[in-house]
Amino acid sequence: MLTRLKAPREGKLAKQICKVVLDHFEKQYSKELGDAWDTVRDILTSPSCWQYAVLLNRFNYPFELEKDLHLKGYHKLFQGSLPYYPKSMKCYLSKTPDRMTSERYQIGNLKRYYLLNAASLLPVLALEVQDGEKVLDLCAAPGGKSVALLQCAYPGYLHCNEYDSLRLRWLKQTLESFIPQPLINTIKVSELDGRDMGESQPESFDKVLVDAPCSNDRSWLFSSDSQKAACMISQRRNLPVLQIELLRSAIKALRPGGLLVYSTCTLSKAENQDVISEILNSHSNIMPVDIKGITRTCSQDFTFAPTGQECGLLVIPDKGKAWGPMYVAKLKKSWSMGK
Ligand SMILES: C[S@@+](CC[C@H](N)C(=O)[O-])C[C@H]1O[C@@H](n2cnc3c(N)ncnc32)[C@H](O)[C@@H]1O
Repeated sequence: MLTRLKAPREGKLAKQICKVVLDHFEKQYSKELGDAWDTVRDILTSPSCWQYAVLLNRFNYPFELEKDLHLKGYHKLFQGSLPYYPKSMKCYLSKTPDRMTSERYQIGNLKRYYLLNAASLLPVLALEVQDGEKVLDLCAAPGGKSVALLQCAYPGYLHCNEYDSLRLRWLKQTLESFIPQPLINTIKVSELDGRDMGESQPESFDKVLVDAPCSNDRSWLFSSDSQKAACMISQRRNLPVLQIELLRSAIKALRPGGLLVYSTCTLSKAENQDVISEILNSHSNIMPVDIKGITRTCSQDFTFAPTGQECGLLVIPDKGKAWGPMYVAKLKKSWSMGK
């Protein structure tokens, strides 16, 4: 059953909430998030409150736009608050749900900015990519995090992988729209099952990002087909299996001493904390990396829910901070031998 939303976005048809999904979330998240769920639900079900951050493209730098953003009251995200925050990465946000129009790509003219959920920069920043490193983006389409990663550093080798062929086209388009051709020529794009990459490229990468397929709470809530949505609810319990397999493969692809970041855009504990606990319990060569510092330094811009983990954080949508859901966990492969 679909319920019409109260506040349609100007000039657009109102998105419709899928009641089957909302009821399912209500049951699960009121347990997992406690009192915080009421606010999270209000934000998730009100697209008119959603915020969009503006990530400037360092490869076609929009000086005039940056001035305009200041005049419109936008402020720079994470200014000086994080231990790793490359100067080349510039992301602006407004306290109000102002949404800039998306740019059209014209051949020969790179886009100047990317609109995104600001919380999706956290996994990229947690990866702390340095110039020259070998980096794998295991589940890369549509390419937002690959683009963000290239705002931070010039990896010596960047491998962007995506299993779904339609989404792979989208990934290629994103890269072409934001990244200059000479740099694109150094990026490897592949259409592989991420679960196989560890076997085929063992210990090859300094950093691996696993931005995993997940329940994607925001878009799922607005499924237009309630039968399909009901089917997705029953398939949802299989996602952790896929997520763990992707992580196992990522761990194999990582060199000893390398860093791995796992992220999802769901609030689900089964797809977040439980997946990471399973990995830590089953891999003696994987250690948690403490990222609690991020929750302390970024609390002005983001609201976090407790995860019970030092290596994992969860951004939950809040009033005036309508970012997330985004779970981020950081792991390190030890130098010693292990499973
Ligand atoms: C959350 S999305 C990634 C978003 C992307 N990182 C970004 O920031 O734009 C997860 C992606 O994983 C892909 N995927 C699903 N199963 C996969 C697999 N076995 N191997 C690699 N990618 C897979 C999905 O098609 C989807 O595009």
